[in-house]
Amino acid sequence: MGIFFGGRSGEHEVSLLSARSIISNLDPSKYNLIEVGITREGKWLSGERVLDAFQKGATAHLQPVAMFPQAGDHHLYRLIDGQYHPQIHLDVVFPVLHGTFGEDGTLQGFLELIGIAYVGAGVLASSVGMDKGLFKSVLRSYEIPVLDHQLITRRQVEEDLEQAIRMIESALSYPIFVKPANLGSSVGITKCRNRSDLGEGLYEAARYDRRIVVEQGLERPREIEVSVLGNDQPVVSIPGEVVPGEDFYTYSAKYLSDSSELLIPAPLSDEQTREIQRIAVQTYRAIDCSGMARVDFLLDRQTERVYVSEVNTIPGFTQISMYPKLWEASGLPYTKLLDRLIELAFERKADRDRTEFHYRREE
Ligand SMILES: Nc1ncnc2c1ncn2[C@@H]1O[C@H](COP(=O)(O)OP(=O)(O)O)[C@@H](O)[C@H]1O
Ligand SMILES: [Mg+2]
Repeated sequence: MGIFFGGRSGEHEVSLLSARSIISNLDPSKYNLIEVGITREGKWLSGERVLDAFQKGATAHLQPVAMFPQAGDHHLYRLIDGQYHPQIHLDVVFPVLHGTFGEDGTLQGFLELIGIAYVGAGVLASSVGMDKGLFKSVLRSYEIPVLDHQLITRRQVEEDLEQAIRMIESALSYPIFVKPANLGSSVGITKCRNRSDLGEGLYEAARYDRRIVVEQGLERPREIEVSVLGNDQPVVSIPGEVVPGEDFYTYSAKYLSDSSELLIPAPLSDEQTREIQRIAVQTYRAIDCSGMARVDFLLDRQTERVYVSEVNTIPGFTQISMYPKLWEASGLPYTKLLDRLIELAFERKADRDRTEFHYRREE
């Protein structure tokens, strides 16, 4: 099995932490693990103790490797004297890559071309799950509750900021959240309380994406998260709650300080729990997700209404991350969870292989 980590996204480090936990929790008698580290520049490296090397920033002894998008060629090739040689045969890939170029369908598309089994969601769910704007539009079409939003392009911000602000202010009221459509870890997100915040927030988000989601904000909502696992018949964990140690769940609240708290299970009524679990599965199905996803909700303290906020198709996987912790608390230990994810990867591949890609005329 190939385990891929690192990557070109801003969540490179988080990916290394997730990979560390996954590697130490996989049953070593079951899997022959091949570590493939992807650098920030997008180079694939393999060899001895790849993860250690990436974490120490000492990768000089590693060798460049590659796969080629030829259907059925599952080899990892190693570059030797300027030529690629088939080295190791992989039967499944576990992409532990958060964000751009790993969680957004790009790597998934490449693995589809090769025709190899891989853990997690396919191309469609990965890309729709990554784009906060399109994701909300899809959910709205299923009448799944989401907060109102507007999609603004970088071009609109640069060409006529006043007009963009007028449009936003006529549709939404402060506080307003401005987010790059395709990022995670709260990077580039601003909570805006007034017009001047909004202008700054739009410029900030435009640094990170062409597409900017401007969303109706809630004042200190409760943040509830649920883990979903499966292909056509997904199962759902008990809900957990994040209590951010800052005004909202910012990058530093997530990774740099220990001020945020996780409550497992989330203190909710049975009815609220069931409602949230039902919506989580509905969301999973709406984007044709498979493998796994963490579905995040915002709960308005005043009205008690719940809204789906986002979905993460490769959620954080460290020992203290919500996704595996919710499964532990729901009776599925970390090692078993990994076994199940790998099984699901093979099941999805088998199902895909049943699909006919050519039209065969009946004689
Ligand atoms: N509409 C909103 N109202 C209130 N808080 C929000 C809203 N949108 C996002 N937040 C806060 O910002 C955090 C990050 O936003 P989110 O959409 O989850 O992006 P990311 O993919 O970076 O995690 C959330 O966990 C929450 O604390
Ligand atoms: Mg989030």
